[in-house]
Amino acid sequence: MTKQMRLSVEALKWTGAKLQVLDQRKVPEQIVYQDFDSAAGVSEAIASMRVRGAPAIGIAAAYGVVLSVMKHTGEKTPDWRARVDADIDMLAKSRPTAVNLFWALNRMKAVLDASPAEPLAAVAAEAELIHADDIAANRAMGERGADLIGGVKGVLTHCNAGALATGGYGTALSVIRSLYARQPVKVFAGETRPWLQGARLTVWELSQDGIPATLIADSAAAWLMRSGAIDWVIVGADRIAANGDAANKIGTYALAVLARQHGVKFMVVAPNSTIDWTIADGSRIEIEERDPAELLPACYREQETLVKAWNPVFDVTPADLISAIVTESGVVLNPSAESMARLKIA
Ligand code: MRU
Repeated sequence: MTKQMRLSVEALKWTGAKLQVLDQRKVPEQIVYQDFDSAAGVSEAIASMRVRGAPAIGIAAAYGVVLSVMKHTGEKTPDWRARVDADIDMLAKSRPTAVNLFWALNRMKAVLDASPAEPLAAVAAEAELIHADDIAANRAMGERGADLIGGVKGVLTHCNAGALATGGYGTALSVIRSLYARQPVKVFAGETRPWLQGARLTVWELSQDGIPATLIADSAAAWLMRSGAIDWVIVGADRIAANGDAANKIGTYALAVLARQHGVKFMVVAPNSTIDWTIADGSRIEIEERDPAELLPACYREQETLVKAWNPVFDVTPADLISAIVTESGVVLNPSAESMARLKIA
């Protein structure tokens, strides 16, 4: 029987006047959408990780610009554009690593720079297009990735690169969805410390689509690979440099090193909007460091103590550890500056 894949999980819903954001800090215990009607609110929702995942952050920021234009043109202030630009700057400071945020804001700015007769309608149309295009790109990547690895018995994913991290359907999870629709495959998900995107989001999201998944502690990955249960690691990305170096959730680099050691292949799945052609390699990617409190047990947070925490939340996997990069416009095997250039769209 063919399994029908539908969009059961949505991180963001646009009502035309408000952005509804699924509060991912509460998933899976609570499924709660919060309404945002200002750019400041959206900026805070990104910074606090109510919405997270590179493409979803970009889409949310695009709607944040719509809300800003709605407010400032509605107030009929002569300097409305300067106020919108200030909101765009604020949104750009919400998180540093995912390039989709800056890509989406640049697209919104370009629409305003063209001085449309009806600015609000123009930016709303652009944000909706960014959202719809992301879903279409994800579906295309799912098919491409599944074509590449047909016949596999098991895969491991890390963090959440699913519908919750995108406009819908997901990047790494789009490949897993497409694959599962074609053949049986054993799916493993790393819990993804310290924020537990794998344990709280990925296994829940897959279960909403009827896809069984097995959770492992991050520290079990080497032993899983050693067991022979997986053929591929499949992950998303927050920013890919022109040579194929890929920033993703902390722990991704460790998985790539382990995969090489165990003869397991390593796939990065991301839309073109995640490629930063302005940087030659991954050394130029800013890696976000979040509050040590996200990592430290409470007893160390509440008093002066010698115990500190270092909490980088992304790392960079060098291109030479990546077997394939899958985007909506093509697949690059063994990525390098030369092979990546084929993905460049005019
Ligand atoms: O800190 P997060 O949860 O925003 O990190 C998300 C990731 O690292 C994802 O793997 C990445 O954004 C790709 S999402 C399609």
